[in-house]
Amino acid sequence: MKRSLKIAPSILAADYARLGEAVSAADAAGADQIHIDVLDGVFAPNISFGPGVVKSIRPYSKLPFDVHLMIAEPDRYLEAFAEAGADMLTVHVEAGPHIHRTLQHVRSLGLRAGVTLNPGTPVVALSEVAADIDFVLVMSVNPGFGGQAFIENSLRKVEATRRLLDELGNTQADLSVDGGVDETNAARIVAAGANVLVAGTAVFGASDGLGAAVQRLRRAGGSLTD
Ligand code: DX5
Ligand code: ZN
Repeated sequence: MKRSLKIAPSILAADYARLGEAVSAADAAGADQIHIDVLDGVFAPNISFGPGVVKSIRPYSKLPFDVHLMIAEPDRYLEAFAEAGADMLTVHVEAGPHIHRTLQHVRSLGLRAGVTLNPGTPVVALSEVAADIDFVLVMSVNPGFGGQAFIENSLRKVEATRRLLDELGNTQADLSVDGGVDETNAARIVAAGANVLVAGTAVFGASDGLGAAVQRLRRAGGSLTD
């Protein structure tokens, strides 16, 4: 099957005084979805955006809002993010004992459900839920901050995750990589089996503008066939 390459700019690296404009600019730059990192200072050592911010920036683009929940007790906030305009919700397997229930809950809200794992968590943690999810996100940095270096071992995890999805017959699932992604590693990430590149610094930090940065990532990622 042919899977399309998607670029997901992470607004964690944008200017927070102009978040709406950042979302519009990412849309105009040719992004495929907007990645929104929600950090609560408990699950991960930083604090970012809540549902109110998501709601405020929702009118600035029609692209899917890909909300990455790096928070404790995610079940308490799923409705709020759905109402705020999220299209996709990603939950961490480490965030609680009931990942299966959480994913069902996301689906019941009519959203695409995804699961993610920290760099230290083995791929086997996904094995009982991977058949029924819309996407997997492999964290290639420890959650909390933009601008960190890509952890090379993530490539092996991407390969193992794609293998697991294929074995379970979930060939439609998107596989995203998040953290330290740029044009120097995009080709290797895609070759390992990913088809969604999440990038904050490489997009919002680009000196030649968002359009050029998105195009560079897309070119580096290449075309996808398997
Ligand atoms: C880390 C976030 C990432 C981060 C990526 O907690 O999940 O989405 O913003 O940023 P860069 O691309 O700068 O590593
Ligand atoms: Zn993220």
